Amino acid sequence: MKIAVRFYSRSGNTQKVAEAIAKAVGTEAKETAVSVNEPVDLLFLGGSVYWGGIDKNLRAFIESLDPAKVKCVATFGTSALKKEPDREAAKLLSAKGIKVASSAFRCDGAFAAFHKGHPDEADLKAAAAFAKKIIAEQKE
Ligand SMILES: Cc1cc2nc3c(=O)[nH]c(=O)nc-3n(C[C@H](O)[C@H](O)[C@H](O)COP(=O)(O)O)c2cc1C
Repeated sequence: MKIAVRFYSRSGNTQKVAEAIAKAVGTEAKETAVSVNEPVDLLFLGGSVYWGGIDKNLRAFIESLDPAKVKCVATFGTSALKKEPDREAAKLLSAKGIKVASSAFRCDGAFAAFHKGHPDEADLKAAAAFAKKIIAEQKE
C-alpha cells in the first residue's frame, strides 16, 4: 500500500503529529508545499485551526490534488479551543470526489497560555495508533 503524509504547520504542533504518523507507517512527513505526484492509496493530511478555519496553503494543496491519483485521505490536526476534529479539509476533499477515511485525529496544540507541551508523548502515541487503525481499515 502506497502511503504519503503531508502537513501544514505554523508553529510545529501539527508537524510533530505528522512525524509521529509518518514514523508509525514507515514513510516521511512532508509539508503541503510538496505536491503529491505519484498515485497513493492513502494520504494522511494534517492541518490546524486558525481563527476558525484552515490555512489557505492547506486549501490550495487540497485543490491541487488529483482525485485519480489519491484513493483515500485521512485527516489529522491540532487545535487549542476546538475539541473535535475540524471538518473543513474533509468537506473540501469530498467536494473534489476524494474519499475521506471514516475517522479523523485531533489533539491539543499549544497556543499562548493554553496546552503547554502539547502535543505531548501521549498525544503522539495516540496519533500513531490512529494511523495504524486507518491502515488496518483500508486493508479490510
Ligand atoms: C493565529 C492563530 C489563530 C488560532 N485560532 C484558533 C481557533 O480559532 N480555534 C482553535 O481551536 N485554535 C486556534 N488556534 C490554535 C492552533 O490551532 C493551535 O495552536 C495549533 O496547534 C497550531 O498548530 P501548528 O503549530 O501546527 O500551526 C490558533 C492559533 C493561532 C496562531
